[in-house]
Amino acid sequence: MLTRRSLGALGAAALFLTTALPALAEPIVIKFSHVVAPDTPKGKGAAKFEELAEKYTNGAVDVQVYPNSQLYKDKEELEALQLGAVQMLAPSLAKFGPLGAQEFEVFDLPYIFDGYEALHKVTQGEVGKALFAKLEDKGITGLAYWDNGFKIMSANSPLNTPDDFLGLKMRIQSSKVLEAEMNALGAVPQVMAFSEVYQALQTGVVDGTENPPSNMFTQKMHEVQKHATISNHGYLGYAVIVNKKFWDGLDPEVRAGLEQAMTEATDYANGIAKEENDKALQAMKDAGKTEFHELTPEEKALWVEALTPVHDEMASRIGAETIAAVKAATGSGS
Ligand code: LMR
Repeated sequence: MLTRRSLGALGAAALFLTTALPALAEPIVIKFSHVVAPDTPKGKGAAKFEELAEKYTNGAVDVQVYPNSQLYKDKEELEALQLGAVQMLAPSLAKFGPLGAQEFEVFDLPYIFDGYEALHKVTQGEVGKALFAKLEDKGITGLAYWDNGFKIMSANSPLNTPDDFLGLKMRIQSSKVLEAEMNALGAVPQVMAFSEVYQALQTGVVDGTENPPSNMFTQKMHEVQKHATISNHGYLGYAVIVNKKFWDGLDPEVRAGLEQAMTEATDYANGIAKEENDKALQAMKDAGKTEFHELTPEEKALWVEALTPVHDEMASRIGAETIAAVKAATGSGS
């Protein structure tokens, strides 16, 4: 590829050429900011996208991944994307409410997906596309859905039945559905940026939290939580999004290369998510700091009974038709 450096080596005549062809010389920078560790499904997906995007655009694009809230925390990163300070993000689906896209909170409803297969019928189908369309007038284009996994609950006391949550301060992401979920359990929900959770757990600002094992492990939350219940009561995944003006302004050939990179990075990220979470859970069990509890069928029935009323309670916020569309896609009825 023609670069400023290689042309510079040709001497003064070539210098004239470089100024005539500035677009070929400077790669287009895509800043991709996220809040989790590199060694997670999202972190690895972002690294894969970086590698493939640079390959498929022949170096016309330089993807710079900033993990671990290095650039921005949860709320700030969405503002930065809209302002064009970063070009790409992959926020969790629970973080779109403050943007005015509260339909995405459908993914937070307890027990709405009974596994990855049911979830993929939504994220890889028409409902997923329709949700992305709702972002366009906010200056955002949705590119892909990336999996993380199903959440476990943790605290310093056992969490076997809903009664065990009474009065516990539980950190949540900025989703009204998660707020309703914790209220339904009798807990006190507290919205907090992901980067602040470890310290809040360590100092007792909050008593517990929920997250898939990969996030819990890579943030070392298991070192400050004595108990965890493998409840799989809800899903946490991502929408990879890009600043619409930036995306629409790209040369079509470059955009096609990025789309190909995103398709392959998505297959990769979604292919490793379950295994990454299984490995993280095993690593936390091996570390021996947290006692992990599997729900008995009787306990699970109590969780389901306490949490499923959240579906009706949140229907007016999410939109009853969105909830019905998700349930129709997964085959779980409406
Ligand atoms: C959280 O805030 O708990 C998660 O959204 C973090 C993430 O991006 O996985």
